Amino acid sequence: MTTRRDFIASTALSAAAIALAPLSACSQESPSSAPTNKNAARPVETAFAGTLITRAIPASGERIPVIGMGTSGSFEVGTSAAERDPLREVLTRFIAAGATVIDTAPTYGTAEDVLGDLLAAAKSRGRVFMATKLSGVSGRGEGLAQFNDSLRRLQTDKVELLQVHNLRDTDTQLALARELKQQGKVKYVGLTHYQERAQAQLADDMRRLKPDFVQINYSPVSRGAERTIFPLAQDLGIAVMINRAFEDGRLFGQVRDIPVPGWAKDVGADSWAQLFLKFVVSQPAVTVVIPATSKPKNQTDNLKAGVGALLDEKQRAALIAALG
Ligand SMILES: NC(=O)c1ccc[n+]([C@@H]2O[C@H](COP(=O)([O-])OP(=O)(O)OC[C@H]3O[C@@H](n4cnc5c(N)ncnc54)[C@H](OP(=O)(O)O)[C@@H]3O)[C@@H](O)[C@H]2O)c1
Repeated sequence: MTTRRDFIASTALSAAAIALAPLSACSQESPSSAPTNKNAARPVETAFAGTLITRAIPASGERIPVIGMGTSGSFEVGTSAAERDPLREVLTRFIAAGATVIDTAPTYGTAEDVLGDLLAAAKSRGRVFMATKLSGVSGRGEGLAQFNDSLRRLQTDKVELLQVHNLRDTDTQLALARELKQQGKVKYVGLTHYQERAQAQLADDMRRLKPDFVQINYSPVSRGAERTIFPLAQDLGIAVMINRAFEDGRLFGQVRDIPVPGWAKDVGADSWAQLFLKFVVSQPAVTVVIPATSKPKNQTDNLKAGVGALLDEKQRAALIAALG
């Protein structure tokens, strides 16, 4: 009997094979090595090497590496060594690779505390571009109290980016973020959301309020940002941070047991994660993507996406087709 997962896998595989056919012309690979072996062994983990691609923040010209990281879920742990040691290594690998942008929020459980503790222990706060949020608060007083608590939890006296989370109480919270920017406690201000249905509102707010950054979802299966947010960000000079590049991990379910396409090696990629991240960063409007992981080996995998070639139009189309 064909299960739903088998159906999705075989559909994705044949879509990939069809969509990739024209690309074999620009690949060094012979047709016999096309993606057909469902039982292919996973590549052995290799260390990160190279220099991360950087993009400029339009408001200042400051350059930041295109691969950052998120902390929702992944950093929401307790105090035990068993929970924190893998995250210490996730951070160590991130910083060693020269990556800087870390996104968190006061409403991500213990994430701010964990991040603050691990950065302090590693004496690495100065190497990080810290992004947090004004989250779920109403009014200036609540926002200010929450920000001061974030500084305490993160063990810092300023953050690089303060974002209004999910467009809630936007005008008041962004005004507060700008006030803190004037005081030197915040370097850039931004607005975030994570759903396509919010993008019309986000676009209105971008035109009206002109933040330094916006953060929004984008992936090969959620491409709404291409329509309005990316062109608008380029017109207005707003940096774009991308969340949910893996659809909160769901994209991996769609390609499980399917080898990466033959052309992946033309862009230096040996995993689906690297292809998904290269897909996102291939958009010139994108400044940084913030995949979240709790696993050191996945952190190394994600960092590798920020080195070497990105995807051209044909490769982008092939990836979209492969995910159906
Ligand atoms: N409104 C907002 O402002 C908003 C909303 C959503 C998200 N965000 C931000 O964006 C960040 C990213 O979004 P997200 O956390 O929702 O989801 P995501 O980055 O799309 O996906 C995270 C999932 O992918 C898995 N993963 C990561 N790297 C992998 C790899 N190389 N290979 C296989 N699996 C991998 C992780 O599992 P493992 O832990 O097992 O690696 C985790 O389950 C958040 O952490 C947060 O900082 C902001």
